[in-house]
Amino acid sequence: MPNIVVVGTQWGDEGKGKVVDILTPHVNVVVRYQGGNNAGHTVVVGREKYVLHSIPSGILHAGCRCVIGCGVVVDPGSLIEEMEALVQRGVSFDGNLFISKNAHLIMPYHPALDRASEAKLGSRRIGTTGKGVGPAYVDKAARVGIRMADLLDVQLFREKLERNVAQKNRLLREIYDAQTFTVDEILNPYLRYAGWLAPYITDTASLLTRWIESGYSVLFEGAQGTMLDMDHGTYPFITSSSTTSGGAATGTGVPPTRLQGILGVAKAYTTRVGSGPFPTEMSGQMAEDIRARGNEYGATTGRPRRCGWFDAVVLRYAVRINGLDTVALTKLDVLDQCETVKICTGYRYKNELLTDFPEEEAVLDGAEPVYEDVSGWMSPTSRAKNEADLPAKARRYLERLEELIGVPFCMISTGAQRDETILCEDSPLMRWFPSVRSSLL
Ligand code: GDP
Ligand code: IMO
Ligand code: MG
Repeated sequence: MPNIVVVGTQWGDEGKGKVVDILTPHVNVVVRYQGGNNAGHTVVVGREKYVLHSIPSGILHAGCRCVIGCGVVVDPGSLIEEMEALVQRGVSFDGNLFISKNAHLIMPYHPALDRASEAKLGSRRIGTTGKGVGPAYVDKAARVGIRMADLLDVQLFREKLERNVAQKNRLLREIYDAQTFTVDEILNPYLRYAGWLAPYITDTASLLTRWIESGYSVLFEGAQGTMLDMDHGTYPFITSSSTTSGGAATGTGVPPTRLQGILGVAKAYTTRVGSGPFPTEMSGQMAEDIRARGNEYGATTGRPRRCGWFDAVVLRYAVRINGLDTVALTKLDVLDQCETVKICTGYRYKNELLTDFPEEEAVLDGAEPVYEDVSGWMSPTSRAKNEADLPAKARRYLERLEELIGVPFCMISTGAQRDETILCEDSPLMRWFPSVRSSLL
């Protein structure tokens, strides 16, 4: 049974939640391997819309085991709220959620530091989600972080908390002129969270390995996207984790040799929330139209997303960094009313044509996109069941994208609903999950 990684190829919000939801019936386990509740993964089921933040999107399928891996940072209060809201909507948590004891905790001083540091940066701010994800990973790397397992040892938790509060308070007061914390105001609620979460905290790395050895199939649900990766993204305008496929191994403890395939998710155009370079960003009415048609507002913060044309330079880079076998293309329907659709095929920088994504900040800032215009199809795509049902011009757009990025599409999404999905013939996805077609009928 294959173990497959689903990874964002752009700046996040590509539709990973929908893709994971479609693939969940074909696997036994879905695991999140990085990020935290900065993620917002939307799954639409009929009239119901769910937005998952820390919990894997597989949770909506009874029988799927969901794992929060060691690479994730967990805000326990927010996780419990998310669980309770799901329970209200009929989801049950009985032996289907497992949280790594090595996952680091987001503590109340992390969102405070996140916001304070953003305020201090002023116009150079990252535009974070303010959830404290960056500062929690800072503590992890600085070896002062507090982990899930520590929650279960009151004495140890108190000691670590006391040391951290003393240090963070100095930072908050002296560097940021911000409000400080007392140990007790954190300790009491966190001990309550400990009682709540204790049954779910376990050694997920060995559990996953055992499941894989017994023939289970695991789906690794990436959060954010390739261009937000801490090493490979548009640094410093990134999130603080390894969003790319390599993170799936380190963020779970499942060795890379156990991964059989990597599926990238890409929008038929591009969006970005927060600051940082975005070569194909649109302006004016076109941006407004795409934002409105695609409902491009953040699933976590509600912020309007910046919109731009499809960037084949970014996608080729994502293919290389993640080792993508195939790509699921989403939101094709959002382009249905465009007279002309643009594809960025390269960047011009100082009279040079770049076809590889430049990693140097200065080059990226000065890079001008080079576009190829494709005639729009000006008709709806949402009802198409097969590629052959799509308007000829839409098919031409897809063929050109595939040619430019160099890997085949496995799925074309034409709406948020499960059945607004076209499966492409002969794609790696069909080999991994031969019954995927029947589940969409
Ligand atoms: P994620 O973070 O990658 O899971 O993506 P988000 O959930 O943040 O954003 C994707 C949004 O697009 C969600 O509101 C989805 O319901 C929606 N969506 C997904 N696929 C499609 C599609 O093919 N067409 C349209 N119109 N909406 C889609
Ligand atoms: P999903 O999983 C889009 C962005 C923020 C900001 C930068 C750093 O739904 O695709 P952070 O709070 O992580 O320190 O912010 O990363 N960002 C996302 N953008 N989708 C996401 O998640 C994101 N998670 C973080 O907007 O630019
Ligand atoms: Mg999202």
